[in-house]
Amino acid sequence: MSPPVVAVVGGGQLARMLAEAASPLGVRLRVLAAPGDEGASEVVTDVVVGAPDDEAALARLAEGADVVTFDHENVDHAALERLEAAGVVVRPSVATLRCSDKAHQRRTFAAAGLPVPDFEVLDDPASAVEDAATFVGRAVPPGSRVVVKASRGGYDGRGVWMLEPDELARFVADWTGAPLVLEPELPLVGEVAVLVARRPGGQSVTWPVLETVQVDGMCDEVVLPSGWPPEVEERALAVAVAVAEAAGSVGVLAVELFLVGDPDDPEVVVNEVAPRVHNSGHLTIEGCATSQFAQHLRAVLDWPLGPTDPVAGAATMVNVVGSTDADPRDRQADALAEVPEAHLHLYGKQARPGRKIGHVTVVGAHRESTRRRARTAAEVLAGPA
Ligand SMILES: Nc1ncnc2c1ncn2[C@@H]1O[C@H](COP(=O)(O)OP(=O)(O)OP(=O)(O)O)[C@@H](O)[C@H]1O
Ligand SMILES: [Mg+2]
Repeated sequence: MSPPVVAVVGGGQLARMLAEAASPLGVRLRVLAAPGDEGASEVVTDVVVGAPDDEAALARLAEGADVVTFDHENVDHAALERLEAAGVVVRPSVATLRCSDKAHQRRTFAAAGLPVPDFEVLDDPASAVEDAATFVGRAVPPGSRVVVKASRGGYDGRGVWMLEPDELARFVADWTGAPLVLEPELPLVGEVAVLVARRPGGQSVTWPVLETVQVDGMCDEVVLPSGWPPEVEERALAVAVAVAEAAGSVGVLAVELFLVGDPDDPEVVVNEVAPRVHNSGHLTIEGCATSQFAQHLRAVLDWPLGPTDPVAGAATMVNVVGSTDADPRDRQADALAEVPEAHLHLYGKQARPGRKIGHVTVVGAHRESTRRRARTAAEVLAGPA
């Protein structure tokens, strides 16, 4: 009998970690990697080379596969719809994938009555400058900045700008990319993420709430437990489950949430969702009973989902970001000498300043010591700035 084949659009580090989870499950992973993709091709033998919008390459990827899934959102939706129409099982569906568009998300979740920031989508170039000014007058309190987001194509804080209201008109007038989403800068008291996994029939599980710490708009650190009281965590979980339902997700969906206002009783507001495995969930590999990667494969294959409980009192993940220095693969031994219990994950990507090239997870009894130890190991790996 041949093994189930899960075909992944994308060949980056998420596909690589899906492959690492596929092996013990007896699942064969196939990836569609762009010519320059470095992450997955080191560990996956079944590679189709091609762009994600190359319809012939997509068809080769899907041939004989049990299910097609994704490691990124920059996919040609029309081509995927044709695959779906031809009987290929695509999970999550194209309808759910559309939620990776920040304008579509805001509209969908607002219509579902979920807590989202006040927002405006600038999708008519003829009136964009005027619409932006009207929005600032209505929704941005004096003294606050306005947050401008590209609806598509952003990641790691690229595609997000915090502007003074008087800088906005020029920015909008000069913009030629995908529609922009405007929001007021909210008084954040924290950020958390909730991962939700759903099977095609709707059965769903969540992992414990994770604290996420961003530096310059990019995720830097993720910590379990979140440090927030149970009633705040319950609120976050309820919002995330409702978001996953509204998105009609199958597989893992990551929900990034803002905590806003009173630090003793913050409001939960939806930031964004990613309809796939996500950086905020990497610590589930060693920190939880079932990792997001194994769970995603189980969910898209419509297999029973696993428990998500933490395996220890605490876990911390710290991203390893490239410096101008040499390859981090010269420094694994140094990192392990400093922090022998660290779980190192290097993605096989060329180091470049500001590029995520790996992560480190430390699991232990206490939150603060896992944070310190993971930070130390990540700093040794990243090397001198
Ligand atoms: N309306 C807002 N008010 C305050 N801070 C915000 C707002 N929107 C975004 N931010 C900050 O900017 C960060 C990045 O925003 P967002 O998650 O939209 O960007 P991204 O580049 O898509 O993120 P990712 O790193 O998840 O790819 C948020 O995590 C938050 O710290
Ligand atoms: Mg984000």
